Amino acid sequence: MFKEMLFTPNEFAQLAKLDKNLIPALESNGAIKTHRKRIGNVDRKVLSLEEVQNFFKMLREFDLATHEENMASNMGAGAESAGSAIIVSEAIAAATKHVAAHPSHKAQMFYNVKGGTGKSTLTAQFVMMASLLGYRVLAIDLDGQGHLSVNLDILDAHERPTIYDVLINDLPIDQAIMNVAPGLDLIPANLQLCNIEIPLNNKTRREYRLSEAIAKISDQYDLIIADTNPAASILNGSMLVASDRVNVICATNPLSFHGMSLVMATIEEMQREFRRSLDVKIIPNMYDNREVISQEVLGELRSQFPDHCAKAVINRSADLNEATKRRTTVLDVNTKGTAANDINELTHELLK
Ligand SMILES: Nc1ncnc2c1ncn2[C@@H]1O[C@H](COP(=O)(O)OP(=O)(O)OP(=O)(O)O)[C@@H](O)[C@H]1O
Ligand SMILES: [Mg+2]
Repeated sequence: MFKEMLFTPNEFAQLAKLDKNLIPALESNGAIKTHRKRIGNVDRKVLSLEEVQNFFKMLREFDLATHEENMASNMGAGAESAGSAIIVSEAIAAATKHVAAHPSHKAQMFYNVKGGTGKSTLTAQFVMMASLLGYRVLAIDLDGQGHLSVNLDILDAHERPTIYDVLINDLPIDQAIMNVAPGLDLIPANLQLCNIEIPLNNKTRREYRLSEAIAKISDQYDLIIADTNPAASILNGSMLVASDRVNVICATNPLSFHGMSLVMATIEEMQREFRRSLDVKIIPNMYDNREVISQEVLGELRSQFPDHCAKAVINRSADLNEATKRRTTVLDVNTKGTAANDINELTHELLK
């Protein structure tokens, strides 16, 4: 389970792009906190999810300018004796380069009118990874299938309020929010949401209701990320009004590729209608480099949509299915696997 995840110092070093030999120095300096946990017969040093998050939060508060000044004055004074403190400070300064202080696109939606391309899977993996990196994240499930909720280990969504209650029954949005892990909140979804289109259509300012609701709690989060239903629905249009970026998940197969011109046209039309200018990123998913067709589709995506195609590519991997089954992050399945690496790359790209 994501919220109970533990990291070995080596796994943590890999995640933070730190030299693992520096961990003891960072620990004695207080930059990293660990605790001991009995696993089987062995007493192990581990980091909890919150201990990892705290390190990344500290990185983002680390003042590079002051650090440079301190370094310069240390040099000037020839203070080699400051040894370990300098090494620690340098290590932290280097690590800060890998984390964005503030995500440039706070509200993002994962979208495709085509079903089954991996929207819910990648939304869940992204929000867990971003919260691991210490960002305060709100995930919003906008699909009555409730797959994002399930992916985040919420199995009683049918008993909980959803965005339906907020948009149709005027429930204050904060009452629809639940906590799923340290730093990660969710507005879950259930089947009731499949019936929202007609009542929403009858509301005044229908496409603006969601962004107005989100604006009320926006200050409490660094990221607001929605998984959407596979349709050109009013609900999805509402999220588009609330978003700064649309992440279009495209499976690298011919039909998914064929649907891309329709998706891009739909997004453009909505941008015109709501007078919005959005960043659009296409994320190739389920890529298999042993398949010629997969390579061809990726090549076509890159040549037809050069300004939009993400650098990150998500390979087809059983780890992602396993993570879905275990309702956790791919890091929990296999920290060193391709899927963990792909999701890590994607997360950093989407935070830029
Ligand atoms: N890169 C991948 N490798 C292997 N399996 C994947 C990958 N991405 C997604 N899947 C699997 O594909 C299936 C469909 O994914 P998912 O439910 O995320 O798609 P979706 O776009 O949200 O579907 P819908 O349109 O129904 O909401 C899931 O079983 C998921 O585990
Ligand atoms: Mg889905």
